[in-house]
Amino acid sequence: MNFDETFLNKLSKAKKIVFFTGAGISAESGIPTFRGKDGIWNKLKPEELANFNAFMRNPKMVWEWYNHRKKIIHDSKPNAGHFAIADMQDLFDEVTVVTQNIDNLHRRAGSKNIFELHGNIERNYCVRCKTFYNGELDFSDGVPKCNCGGLIRPDVVWFGEYLPEDQFEGGENSAVNSDIFFVVGTSAVVYPAAGLVHSAKRAGSYIVEVNIEETEISVMCDKSFYGEAGKVLPEIVKALKNKIIK
Ligand code: OAD
Repeated sequence: MNFDETFLNKLSKAKKIVFFTGAGISAESGIPTFRGKDGIWNKLKPEELANFNAFMRNPKMVWEWYNHRKKIIHDSKPNAGHFAIADMQDLFDEVTVVTQNIDNLHRRAGSKNIFELHGNIERNYCVRCKTFYNGELDFSDGVPKCNCGGLIRPDVVWFGEYLPEDQFEGGENSAVNSDIFFVVGTSAVVYPAAGLVHSAKRAGSYIVEVNIEETEISVMCDKSFYGEAGKVLPEIVKALKNKIIK
């Protein structure tokens, strides 16, 4: 892949970079995305699976779906895109990952500074007393229960719920203070998460999109690279290392 000098110069001078990621970065790890041709929300209804009232109505069904997703995630590994982002930590003063993904793959790839806007499938908590349960859960009654009798749910953000405040604030701060803001593998249609692209742009950050196709926010990007994140991001790392060595 060829990158123009303006882009490489911009990148080599940057100190703080942010990677705002979505389901597309994990697609090459075998985890399905939500929208697009084979997207999860084409086959299943979010209002029945990613919704608190649906959980209270039918916790067993919602848990079956999350356990199915957890299995896919546990069987998968970080891909070249996740590793390229982790490698960037050696090339910049500050690299922050702000992800909408709940799959933990950025952490498994070695990224250190991560804000998780939509939670993490490895954590769970009681809907009544909010106690956290991060180990194996007991499904012998069909649905795991807390010692207080409340239902235990996955610590993921469902439709209609607030984002974890500390994670969103951390993401927003990183966005407005970034020199370069990469938008990788997200359709950027789910708010408030997608609002971070606008915050970064307003604050004067240089916006770079990596996606297999155009998205709603392509028009506001300073640079767009169309291709798989697992191919484009390692190429950027390679080009940058060459530039720094020269
Ligand atoms: P989407 O499924 O909406 O979008 C995935 C994006 O990744 C699309 O723009 C694809 O073109 C792109 N893509 C697919 N494969 C790719 C690849 N190999 N390399 C680069 N790009 C690729 O997923 P999100 O934008 O993450 O929320 O969805 C946002 C939120 O909607 C999710 O966090 C989830 C969902 O409902 C909650 O569960 C709260």
